[in-house]
Amino acid sequence: MVRFVGVQNAVRWIRATGLETILGELSEYVADDYRRWESFDKSPRVANHSPIGVIELMPTSDGHLYGFKYVNGHPSNPSRGLQTVTAFGVLSDVASGYPLLVAEMTLLTALRTAATSAMAAKHLARADSATMAMIGAGTQAEFQAIAVREALGIRTLRVFDTDPLASAKLVRNLTPLGFDVYVASDSADAVAGADVITTCTADKANATVLTDDMVKPGVHINAIGGDCPGKTELDAAILRRADVFVEFPEQTRIEGEIQQVESDFAVTELWQVVSGTTTGRASAEQITVFDSVGFAIEDFSVLRYLHDKTNHSAFSIDIDLVADPDDPKDLFGFAQGSDAPVPAL
Ligand SMILES: NC(=O)c1ccc[n+]([C@@H]2O[C@H](COP(=O)([O-])OP(=O)(O)OC[C@H]3O[C@@H](n4cnc5c(N)ncnc54)[C@H](O)[C@@H]3O)[C@@H](O)[C@H]2O)c1
Repeated sequence: MVRFVGVQNAVRWIRATGLETILGELSEYVADDYRRWESFDKSPRVANHSPIGVIELMPTSDGHLYGFKYVNGHPSNPSRGLQTVTAFGVLSDVASGYPLLVAEMTLLTALRTAATSAMAAKHLARADSATMAMIGAGTQAEFQAIAVREALGIRTLRVFDTDPLASAKLVRNLTPLGFDVYVASDSADAVAGADVITTCTADKANATVLTDDMVKPGVHINAIGGDCPGKTELDAAILRRADVFVEFPEQTRIEGEIQQVESDFAVTELWQVVSGTTTGRASAEQITVFDSVGFAIEDFSVLRYLHDKTNHSAFSIDIDLVADPDDPKDLFGFAQGSDAPVPAL
């Protein structure tokens, strides 16, 4: 039997555990896997593009466990009442090839993206950061804000979204959690005085959510929404003034903000900062950019975390995903009922 965590059980588990606890523990799981980055089998994700979106497969393995995520990205989906990003995934045992866990990953994607942003901010933002700007108040936004608050202790959130209803939703969700939220009139207003800027918009275009003049010395930017060819958020001039940190360069050069600059543009791999082999922030004036596109190891980390936390709990159930005849060579007999009879409907 394979364990399954569907949407309802994922929601029950999040409510029972608490989002802050999950984001804090998950950041540690992601950091543990970043520290052993070199032991993972890595490749850029496999992407199938259409004019309005993308469907991607994201596999990786540490030699003991194998994980993959199926994820879509369709920025125009909300106008049809659908989500921009949905996902599900699998964690398997490398020794047998058998799946251990099948999970919904729409919620898990929001969790792991936020946990990774928090990890990046912890290493790259100024330790005295107090104000965060959030450009884009959609699905990911609250998770990003809570995770960065857990990492840095930020107190004030300045938000801008082209959709006022999205900003109102964010205020509704975060004010009860103690956030002091200011709704800005535009991106420039949102980033004024901010120490950490998170761009998390959805538009299948080379958008300029932040222009160069908006970014002051000492700022850290988590650039989340530019994650596909032809889909970016930052003015390229920002990248040239900043130190840019990436997940897996082979994937980020195709999908990230750095698709806008030359193919040998200097970047630092975030795992090297997390593992202490290279420096993150070197001065209070430095501008740092985490050019996040989302990498398979982060999905592996959240599947590993979920499996550890729910495997022997009521938050997961058994599903009969794998045909497993008593005689492993008699799949035919199994299908015909002479091996292990399947109860009639
Ligand atoms: N890097 C990663 O690991 C990762 C993970 C998940 C999602 N993403 C990306 O993050 C982005 C946000 O995801 P989501 O699920 O929150 O999407 P969403 O559609 O729920 O929210 C996006 C929000 O951005 C707003 N927006 C669009 N253009 C804007 C602009 N120019 N200025 C201000 N606001 C603007 C929209 O009104 C919307 O509210 C998407 O592009 C998605 O592909 C990246």
